[in-house]
Amino acid sequence: MADPKAQLKLMGSKQSIELPVRSGTLGPDVIDVNQVGKNGVFTFDPGFVSTASCESKITFIDGGKGVLLYRGYPIEQLAEKADYLEVCYLLLNGELPNKTQKQAFTNNITMHTMVHEQMSHFLNGFRRDAHPMAVMMGVVGALSAFYHDSLDISIPEHRMMSAYRLIAKMPTLAAMCYKYSVGQPFVFPRNEMSYAENFLNMMFQIPSEDSKPDPVLVRAMDRIFMLHADHEQNASTSTVRLAGSTGANPFACISAGIAALWGPAHGGANEAALNMLEEIGDVDRIGEYIKRAKDRDDPFRLMGFGHRVYKNYDPRAKVMRDTCHEVLEAVGAHDNPLFKIALKLEKIALEDEYFVEKKLYPNVDFYSGITLSAIGIPSTMFTVIFALARTSGWISHWIEMISDEAQRIGRPRQLYTGADTRDFVPIDKRK
Ligand code: SDX
Repeated sequence: MADPKAQLKLMGSKQSIELPVRSGTLGPDVIDVNQVGKNGVFTFDPGFVSTASCESKITFIDGGKGVLLYRGYPIEQLAEKADYLEVCYLLLNGELPNKTQKQAFTNNITMHTMVHEQMSHFLNGFRRDAHPMAVMMGVVGALSAFYHDSLDISIPEHRMMSAYRLIAKMPTLAAMCYKYSVGQPFVFPRNEMSYAENFLNMMFQIPSEDSKPDPVLVRAMDRIFMLHADHEQNASTSTVRLAGSTGANPFACISAGIAALWGPAHGGANEAALNMLEEIGDVDRIGEYIKRAKDRDDPFRLMGFGHRVYKNYDPRAKVMRDTCHEVLEAVGAHDNPLFKIALKLEKIALEDEYFVEKKLYPNVDFYSGITLSAIGIPSTMFTVIFALARTSGWISHWIEMISDEAQRIGRPRQLYTGADTRDFVPIDKRK
């Protein structure tokens, strides 16, 4: 059967353009418009609402059904049965590791968790009250000043080494940002600890006492990392791909991804959602905020609700809600007032016709803020945790793109509606 085609017919013109239609393993077909420009027209899609920017084998989302697959595996199964490093291996290599592969991968990551001692001087250059995301953008980009031995992106071994270094060092750098902000000494990584245990230890260990992270909190942290690991071509992943398409080194690309993630409409929503719950303050005030969220003249939106792709419950939010409950029980905060407000707000919103009609459901950020706060992580660190976890997805997409010989520099076109051609006016002749 001939390849399916689409026809683009310009009204008023006899001309019609035949366009290939491509099908993926799952999800909607795509119309390949790559050659449309040769006919003197461009496609126009601000915000890429209907545009597939690339082909990928890493993650699939069915927004209508609330499905999220990492390399074909449902997020609910991975969150329950796997751990974060297993998910990192899966995202990078396309398959779950066997015991030998998992042990080797874990060793590789463990052996790269320390950062160059000079890195501490970078942090000392920031104000103590700098937002940790500003610091992370700086120090992660600065890694490219240290690792010249793995920056030849044409060499697969260099690409994988950069992936190991980034996945390994993000927890160390994130914890350093936190320790710097609270004026406590940095805590070195411990090779005998698991990835999430190591992170919580570097965050909360203090020299004057011998404490170990609570295993329930460690499991919850590891699950939060898994839930945030990847999510198709979201704004920050698309940023990493676009930066990477120019040949920029992987550390610079991940720093660009961190910058994009910081926005409150994207990764900053977990911090914004917790601030919103604190502002609501009481279940009796929920109605007032629902009303504001529905008012088109009011810029207020329910943080942690809505999604470009999910028009059903975000499957991560369900796991996040259960994890939130476990953590609150573990820390003895099961009567956490913010959790009560969140549960009530979720119930009211899901029954409200505005949210039902616009298919606005809680997303992963709705419960993550309460959970991270209950673990003892300050809200300014929430998006840093998101960036830490998403690094595995970002670098997997970067490797997928760089490894594709057909990939070209990303360079969108535009619809120009500015001034027509005009001659320069000397300043003494201007009004
Ligand atoms: C993440 O892309 C990803 O995959 C991102 C992410 C990932 O893992 O990488 O999933 C992580 O970013 C999750 C989303 C976190 N952001 C928030 O929770 C912020 C609140 N949500 C909104 O800002 C919004 O829903 C977005 C940004 C998430 C989605 O924006 P879209 O797709 O551009 O949709 P939209 O803003 O055009 O909303 C459609 C309609 C609008 O009404 P109309 O203009 O059509 O009348 O729904 C309304 C919006 O006004 N709406 C909301 C709302 N979200 C959308 N109204 C009230 N409260 C909200 N939260």
